[in-house]
Amino acid sequence: MKITHTIEELRQTLKPYRQQTVGLVPTMGYLHEGHLSLVKRARQECDIVVMSIFVNPLQFGPQEDLDRYPRDLPRDAALAEKAGVDFLFHPTVEEMYPTPTHTQIIVSEVTEVLCGASRPGHFAGVTTVVGKLFHIVMPDRAYFGLKDAQQVAVIEQMVQDLNFPITVVACDIVRESDGLALSSRNVYLSPEERKQALILSQALFAAKEGLGQGRWKTAQEVNHFVRKTIETQPLAVIDYVETLTYPTLQPIDQLTDQPMIVAVAVYFGRTRLIDNILFVGRE
Ligand code: PAJ
Repeated sequence: MKITHTIEELRQTLKPYRQQTVGLVPTMGYLHEGHLSLVKRARQECDIVVMSIFVNPLQFGPQEDLDRYPRDLPRDAALAEKAGVDFLFHPTVEEMYPTPTHTQIIVSEVTEVLCGASRPGHFAGVTTVVGKLFHIVMPDRAYFGLKDAQQVAVIEQMVQDLNFPITVVACDIVRESDGLALSSRNVYLSPEERKQALILSQALFAAKEGLGQGRWKTAQEVNHFVRKTIETQPLAVIDYVETLTYPTLQPIDQLTDQPMIVAVAVYFGRTRLIDNILFVGRE
C-alpha cells in the first residue's frame, strides 16, 4: 500500500490505472470494522481501492469535537493495508484548503432535517470535501455507510445533480455484538455511558419489529415509542427522534408501504451518537 499526502502525487499515482475500476472509501480515520467493511466491499467490486483519511474541519461546528477527534495514522495505515487498500490519501488541512475557501457545494432539502437541522453547515462541509475528493480521485465507485444514512442520501443527491460519473454504494451498518453501531466517537464514552448507549439500537430494533407487526398507524406513534424507550436511560439526552421517508427524507403522517428511516441522535455526556434503521416494508 502506498501512502500519499499531496493531491498532485495522488493524481500522478492513479494515472496508469484510469482504464481500471477505481473505488474510493472516504473516511476521517480512526478506523474500525465499519470503515473496513466498506473497503471489503470495494475490494470485491473494484480493481483499485483508494482510501482517504482526512479530518475535515469544514464539517465541524465551532463547538464540536474537531480538536479532540481521535487520530492515529500508523494504526490506520496498518489496518487499511491489511484490509486491501492500494492507495491511502492522507492530506493536510493546508493541502486540501490552501487558501480560505470561497466555493462550497450546498445541497438543499435533504440537508435541512435530522443532523442538518442540528448541525448547521455540517453537510455543506461534507459535500464540499467529498466533491473535492471525487475530483481528485475520479473514482468509478464510492463507498459510504448507512450508519450515516442522511449522508448517503445527500451524496446521492449531489452526484445526481452535479453529474458526477460515480456510482454511490451504500453499505450496511456494522455493529458490536451487543448492537451498538461502531463509531470512531465510541472511544469517548465512559463505561457507564457505553452501557446506556445500548438503548439506541435496542429502541430501533424494537421499532423495526413493531413496524413489521403493524403496531402503529402514524410516524408520531413510532417516534413516541422510540423516545420513551431511550428516555429509560438517565444519561441519554435526546437531540432528535424522527421517522421520515428514505432517501427523500420527507415527513410522514400516516404510515404507508414506502421505505422509511427511523433516525436518532442522542447525547451521552458530551458525546453525540447517531443510529438508524431502514424499514422497506414488512419483511
Ligand atoms: P467517517 O465518520 O470516518 O466515516 C467514513 C465512512 O464510514 C462513512 O461512509 C460512514 O458512514 C462509514 N461508517 C462509519 N461507521 C460505520 C458503521 N458502523 N457501519 C458502516 N459504515 C460505517 O463519514 C465521514 O467520515 C465523513 O463525513 C466523510 C464522508 C469522510 C467526509 O469527510
